[in-house]
Amino acid sequence: MKKTIAVLPGDGIGREVTAEGVKILKQVANLFGHDFGFVYGTIGHEAIEQTGNPLPDDTLHLLRQSDAILFGAVGHPHYDNNPSLAVRPEQGLLRMRKELDLFANIRPIKLFDDLLHASSIKPEVLKGADILFFRELTGDVYFGEKGRKDHHTAYDVMVYSRHEVERIAHLAFQAARSRRKKVTSVDKANVLESSRLWRQVVQEISAQYADVQLEHLFVDAAAMKLIQNPRSFDVVLTGNLFGDILTDEASQIAGSMGMLASASVGHTVGLYEPIHGSAHDIAGKGLANPLASILSAALMLDLSFGLKKESMAVVRAVELTLRQGYRTPDIATGETPDNKILNTKSMGDAVGSELEKIVAGEALITET
Ligand code: IPM
Ligand code: MG
Repeated sequence: MKKTIAVLPGDGIGREVTAEGVKILKQVANLFGHDFGFVYGTIGHEAIEQTGNPLPDDTLHLLRQSDAILFGAVGHPHYDNNPSLAVRPEQGLLRMRKELDLFANIRPIKLFDDLLHASSIKPEVLKGADILFFRELTGDVYFGEKGRKDHHTAYDVMVYSRHEVERIAHLAFQAARSRRKKVTSVDKANVLESSRLWRQVVQEISAQYADVQLEHLFVDAAAMKLIQNPRSFDVVLTGNLFGDILTDEASQIAGSMGMLASASVGHTVGLYEPIHGSAHDIAGKGLANPLASILSAALMLDLSFGLKKESMAVVRAVELTLRQGYRTPDIATGETPDNKILNTKSMGDAVGSELEKIVAGEALITET
């Protein structure tokens, strides 16, 4: 299979983790006989420095020509500490989502058995947790009207239209059909009008999926229940802001932010990215966990290219690497011996060598 993959490493640890995601994709191409071409673009702080624009036209053009996008992270402390700056790295990511109409952000919360003790949540509460988030990505307070009325007042309008809720609700219900057939829709309908529309539309759509159980939760209760009883969730359907917050919280179910991959899909090219940010405090030190980028690459193989076998092999390689006890610092525990704590690049290499073994083993089986 011949594919062109656009790579946007972005800022901070985005650069080092994306290098490992690309490494694994190249290895998949070699081992399975595919032809993946990689084209690089700039975004975020790096792009602002070079062009003044967090999403330069050249980058957008490159993305539209590609078959899938692997993205790292954007952000820089300079902007976080200067809220008055008008041009900001995050605008690049938000504009990319909007321009490419990537309205559904799919975030699987997958707990690898070997990381049961890496989380601060009790193992008996966690064991077996498996949640699939559908976070709406191109609406809500992120894209509603915003501004300053005067020096003392600012506003961001939380707005949803029926069409925006319908299209993501359909995706969530369809996904639930091939899982445990439950959708939890999360809103704040006891207070917000946009949430009341959200709830009404989700209820209407659910009539078309009679085989799927629908539950509504207010976002505050959902935040509590995620930690109290994560196993009670199957598919979670929610808006942009609540989804942003709840998936960071849910990352603790998987042991670390550094483990969570995501896919942003719409009608055009798919975007694959770790849910974590640019983490400048650890950037360039080899401390970042590349597994979220590698698992994002696995999602790309499955969802954008339909390469299920290849995707499963990458996930299995991650699983086997963890089984051998290898950890980056974020998922290490007091029990992890020093010689099993790997830097970013060595973790990528470890997954790569497991991948080779998996493919070699499979070749052996088919030959006999
Ligand atoms: C995410 C991030 C982004 C978001 C930021 C970087 C704009 O937190 O992808 O979850 O809020 O969507
Ligand atoms: Mg976030």
